[in-house]
Formats: sequence, C-alpha cells, structure tokens
Amino acid sequence: MDLAGRTVLITGAARGLGAAMARALAARGADLALVDLDVDAIEPVRKTCAELGVAARAYAANVSVEDEVVDLYERVVEDFERLDASIANAGILRDALLVKAKEGRPLEKMPLADWQAVIDVNLTGVFLCGREAAAQMIRLGNGGCILNISSLSREGNVGQSNYSAAKAGVGALTVVWAKELAKHSIRVNAIAPGFVATEMVATMPSDILEKIAAGIPAGRLGEPEEIAHAAIFLLENDYMNGRVLEIDGGLRI
Ligand SMILES: NC(=O)c1ccc[n+]([C@@H]2O[C@H](COP(=O)([O-])OP(=O)(O)OC[C@H]3O[C@@H](n4cnc5c(N)ncnc54)[C@H](O)[C@@H]3O)[C@@H](O)[C@H]2O)c1
Repeated sequence: MDLAGRTVLITGAARGLGAAMARALAARGADLALVDLDVDAIEPVRKTCAELGVAARAYAANVSVEDEVVDLYERVVEDFERLDASIANAGILRDALLVKAKEGRPLEKMPLADWQAVIDVNLTGVFLCGREAAAQMIRLGNGGCILNISSLSREGNVGQSNYSAAKAGVGALTVVWAKELAKHSIRVNAIAPGFVATEMVATMPSDILEKIAAGIPAGRLGEPEEIAHAAIFLLENDYMNGRVLEIDGGLRI
C-alpha cells in the first residue's frame, strides 16, 4: 500500500506508540483519524501531524464500548470518505500476580475487575475495532489493512495473567481475520513489541524496569519510533499477511 493520500485510523493516538505511528504515517503523507478517550489529549499530536501537510482529525471514543466504536468508524468514513488502514493500538495495564502469597499463605488475588478491565480494552477493543474496520472496508470496496498491537507478553509474562491472555487473543484474531478477509483484499497483521519507552512502561517500578532492560540483548528499551517503523513496513508490504511481528531487541520471555 502506498500510504500517501490514504486514510489511516489509529486508536490510543494521544501518546506513546500511537502518537509515534501517527507522526510516521503523517510523514508518509497519510491522512489520519486519531482516536483516544479524550479529544484534548490528542490535540498536540493532531497539530504535529497537520503541520506535515496531511488531514488529521481527533475523535473521542472508548474502544471497549460497542456503540462508541460503531459510531466512530461511521463518522471517520463520513469525514474522510475512505478508510484504508485501521490500527488497534489502545491498551492498558493492570498488573498483579494471580495469587500473591507469603510463607504458604495466600495474601492477595488478582481482582476480577483488573482481569475484566484489561480484557475489555485490550481484547474486546481490538475485536470491535477490527470488526467495524472490516465492515467499512468491505462496504467501500477498496480493500485495506488492519494492524493490531499485541505484545511479547502474549508468550506468558509473570504478573500479567490478564494482559498476556488479551495479547495472545489479539495474535489469534490476527490470523483468523487474515484468513477470513483476504477475499476482500484486506490484509491483517500485528506487532508484538518487547519493552518500549512509553508512558505505559514508565508506570512500572524502576527496579523492575532496570532488571528488564539489563536482560534485553540490545541492552536498552525500544523507542516508539522503532515500532512505528515496523508499522509502516506492515502497511506498505502487500505480501505481509496474518503475521505477528516481534520487535523486542532480542528479548525472550
Ligand atoms: N510500551 C510497551 O513497552 C508496549 C509493549 C508491548 C505492547 N504494547 C502495547 O502497545 C499499545 C500502546 O502502548 P503504549 O506504551 O503507547 O501505551 P500508553 O499507555 O502510553 O498509551 C495508550 C493510549 O491508549 C489510550 N487508551 C487507553 N484505553 C483506551 C480506551 N479504552 N479507548 C481509547 N483509548 C484508550 C490511552 O489514553 C493512551 O493514550 C498498547 O496496546 C500496549 O499494550 C506496549
């Protein structure tokens, strides 16, 4: 796909990986529908992208709420009159051990609310965005690309029952959709980043973060721009389909 003049929707675009992908796509001439919980938070990213000469609009939507997602995709197609790519990037963390115990005594359990919140945003949100993107792309008849953001944690990371399960699910959805949607000329891929220096990772305790960085063969966290670079590759390369691309500096969980 040649990105110049194409319309790309990105969720979680106000900061971190979403903002980095927005800037990289604007530099390639793509028009952008930037989605996050709060329109004001998107404004600095929208402005930076618009200054690169593309059309960039901000939309408020919670990706875990069906009506909001349906309405979002309808509004974007109305505003841009096309939809060429959709990036399901919005995600949250609610880390906790399944059961925290001391001296053989269970002390704390992962709250069901923390399980559900992460499944709602990181898995159901990706499902809803992918479903609505596919429906609009099929209706418009120009094909397109869906890009999901999974995580290296999909392999199973300590303290992340909820997050690992959601991100493994995202990997599975990517394969299912690539098979189902190829006949409509829609490609579906995912990125599974390792640890990348964004606000999300900055919420982790610094001693744990130092330990993680020391264990990465590259010797450092990834930069958001390095993930954005991979997103551009997956959107541009017409023979990439149904794959989860790991970008992790060599880290294995
Ligand atoms: N940073 C990393 O190391 C890393 C590693 C692997 C995967 N990821 C994944 O990459 C994606 C982006 O991560 P990030 O590090 O940029 O996170 P971040 O916390 O910096 O940014 C996430 C953005 O998503 C938005 N968001 C959260 N819930 C939302 C909802 N329900 N609806 C709409 N928007 C919502 C937030 O407001 C925020 O702007 C996430 O899916 C995350 O799981 C990140």
